[in-house]
Amino acid sequence: MTIVQLVYASNRRAESALDLEKLLVGSRARNMKAHVTGYLCFRNDSFLQVLEGGPAAVSSVYASIATDPRHCNVVLLGYERAIRRRFSTWSMGYVAEFGELQGILLSYSAQNEFAPHEMDYRSAIEFLSDLATGARRGTSTTDTA
Ligand SMILES: Cc1cc2nc3c(=O)[nH]c(=O)nc-3n(C[C@H](O)[C@H](O)[C@H](O)COP(=O)(O)O)c2cc1C
Repeated sequence: MTIVQLVYASNRRAESALDLEKLLVGSRARNMKAHVTGYLCFRNDSFLQVLEGGPAAVSSVYASIATDPRHCNVVLLGYERAIRRRFSTWSMGYVAEFGELQGILLSYSAQNEFAPHEMDYRSAIEFLSDLATGARRGTSTTDTA
């Protein structure tokens, strides 16, 4: 019954070919099988991702992600038991273009810049949750959960 949440930040590896659509399709299929949910934000060559689910499933997915050559500077911002999932309807929600969600960024950053490595773990979860909620209301995102 234990649910854990994990958040990390990373940077796209400049020299690697990154097909985000392909990455998301594969990730969603694997996450669904493992009952892992979460949300991924990609902007300014930086990633911020939250993963949630059972401890073994989340650890296993993160172990694969952490060694993925498509990104670098993978930094774990936090990992802990949670009372409940925050992204239960997303096998892996995704946002890249903030559009009208730009205002959300200002709530969580001093400079209105997306700098995920500098984010506090709890702020990062709230930020991604706000993005997911804002995206639900109809902006640029994809949800196949
Ligand atoms: C930024 C980023 C996010 C990723 N997110 C996930 C994810 O949520 N779930 C997943 O299964 N794989 C994800 N991947 C892909 C994994 O790193 C890995 O390629 C995939 O799990 C296959 O792993 P394996 O080759 O160890 O089987 C992500 C990769 C990157 C670069």
